[in-house]
Amino acid sequence: MLVSVIFWFVVYTLTQPLSCSLQHEFEWNKYRLPTAITPNEYSIRLILDMFGNEDVNMELPYSGSVNISLYFNESTDLIVLHSVSLNITKVKVETQTDSSPDVLNYRHNDKMEQLEVKLDRRPDAGTEMNLQVEFMGLVSDQLQGFYKGTYRLSESK
Ligand SMILES: *[C@@H]1O[C@H](CO)[C@@H](O)[C@H](O)[C@H]1NC(C)=O
Ligand SMILES: *[C@@H]1O[C@H](CO)[C@@H](O)[C@H](O)[C@H]1NC(C)=O
Ligand SMILES: *[C@@H]1O[C@H](CO)[C@@H](O)[C@H](O)[C@H]1NC(C)=O
Repeated sequence: MLVSVIFWFVVYTLTQPLSCSLQHEFEWNKYRLPTAITPNEYSIRLILDMFGNEDVNMELPYSGSVNISLYFNESTDLIVLHSVSLNITKVKVETQTDSSPDVLNYRHNDKMEQLEVKLDRRPDAGTEMNLQVEFMGLVSDQLQGFYKGTYRLSESK
């Protein structure tokens, strides 16, 4: 009995800090996006310099921005989007009210192909918010990568 208690204590103390740090790396750890927020409308702008590089085999850089209007079904300070192979350069939020929250930080989860945006406070349920994300990417040989990357972002919830 005592042995098993000690064993569990050892297992507990060994696993506790590890699981904590893993959980804290990213808040969201599911492939499906949280349902607390519903995206309603997207507006995407892509800027591609087709003739910027004379070497046709070079990957073409592009930049872009997307505005997504979000509806908060629940009060939450975490926004999660799909995003693949993009360098996120700016993330901004705006609401119609005076007390618009600010972006506290954002992190890209490469493994899950998700972008996590943390707000500095939780807007009430029913809030409508505009999320603006600016990014850069490379068009690969097949235009598919380009297409796929932007599509994945646009289907985000
Ligand atoms: C996003 O909204 C901002 C103003 O809030 C506007 O300046 C910008 O052009 C919009 N971008 C797109 C891609 O619609
Ligand atoms: C969120 O609210 C909208 C508008 O009321 C509703 O259409 C939608 O089904 C809700 N989504 C979830 C996941 O509850
Ligand atoms: C993204 O950023 C990394 C590191 O700054 C850089 O090496 C890479 O070329 C960038 N990729 C794109 C598509 O801009």
